[in-house]
Amino acid sequence: MSERFRIFATCDIGKEALDRLREKGWEVEVHDHLQPPPRKLILEKVRSGIDALVTTLRDRIDDEVFAAGAAARLKVVSQIAVGFDNIDREAASRHKIPFTHTPDVLTDATAEFAFFILGCVARKLYPAETQVRANDWSTWHPYLPWLGDEVSGRTLAVVGMGRIGKSLINKVVGFDMDVLCHDPTYEEHSFIEAIRWLMEVRHRERLCARLQKIEYVSLEEALRRADFVSLHVPLTLPGTGRGEPTYHLMNEERLRAMKPTAYLVNTSRGPVVDESALAKALREGWIAGAALDVFETEPLPADSPLRDEKLVMNLRLFPHAASAARATRLSPDPNVGMAGRCVQGVIDVLERRHDGDPKRMPFVVNKEAF
Ligand code: GLV
Repeated sequence: MSERFRIFATCDIGKEALDRLREKGWEVEVHDHLQPPPRKLILEKVRSGIDALVTTLRDRIDDEVFAAGAAARLKVVSQIAVGFDNIDREAASRHKIPFTHTPDVLTDATAEFAFFILGCVARKLYPAETQVRANDWSTWHPYLPWLGDEVSGRTLAVVGMGRIGKSLINKVVGFDMDVLCHDPTYEEHSFIEAIRWLMEVRHRERLCARLQKIEYVSLEEALRRADFVSLHVPLTLPGTGRGEPTYHLMNEERLRAMKPTAYLVNTSRGPVVDESALAKALREGWIAGAALDVFETEPLPADSPLRDEKLVMNLRLFPHAASAARATRLSPDPNVGMAGRCVQGVIDVLERRHDGDPKRMPFVVNKEAF
């Protein structure tokens, strides 16, 4: 008979996915509350001898948790998110505890959301609907009470050329956009060549009147030339990792480098943008607008400068919801949903799949620990 493993989930990730663990005869305890568990409770559960800990990006999983896990029975931490800046990778590896994440399955949902909020701010969808609902729509007029900015045919800069950045590019080709690519760590020229080929075919077949362009450029050039800048980098803090940290990548100087007619979109991590600099940029017209799905502090505090009423027309705010689509979040199928991929991470490690070699387990992040 297989071992009866114990799993603690800091959040309900959906019955169907968790049932995949229960069906194996494993014991699954869910912290079934809206708010995340206090840190004390996470430590208590780890010390009580759970085999797996299922986490969300709201839980801080640091050296203390991994040390407690190594001293008890913790074999895996499985996070329902692609980003894992809340998990101390170095500590996990030092304590030889693998942790997993949920890449790929949220790529398209996140990329399409980035594009939707870009359109939302540029075409003023929120004030437009507000006007109708408030019964303030007095007449049709060629340019009153406002005009938005077109998206089709404009230039998009994608900062961060991982899965989500590339998916966004693939989608905006159909909107006749030119694309400036920037990645702080690496350049994938075969992807650029494939998109260039697509652009050439669209032009040749008269699907786009103009031959679109795509190229890698420096961040400075991307900011200087783009009509829209969309951020897709992971959050890295000063003093960790290689290269320039992405913390406050979009600071006052870089916001000033954008065109006054340009828009900023952030679906990556809040601290990549200096929010007080952004509020100033919007108030003083250094840029035309912004759409944010992520914030330096989440949920957005009541006294955030981003709540300034004067910014309402040009700033759209969303509740970290880019991957919040039904199948993307909840499907128990590891090839479709984050919940499915999250429990698959638990199963791979606990059942010692791939000959028990975490290096070969696809969703394990810290392969260097083994
Ligand atoms: C969401 O932000 C994620 O990282 O999956």
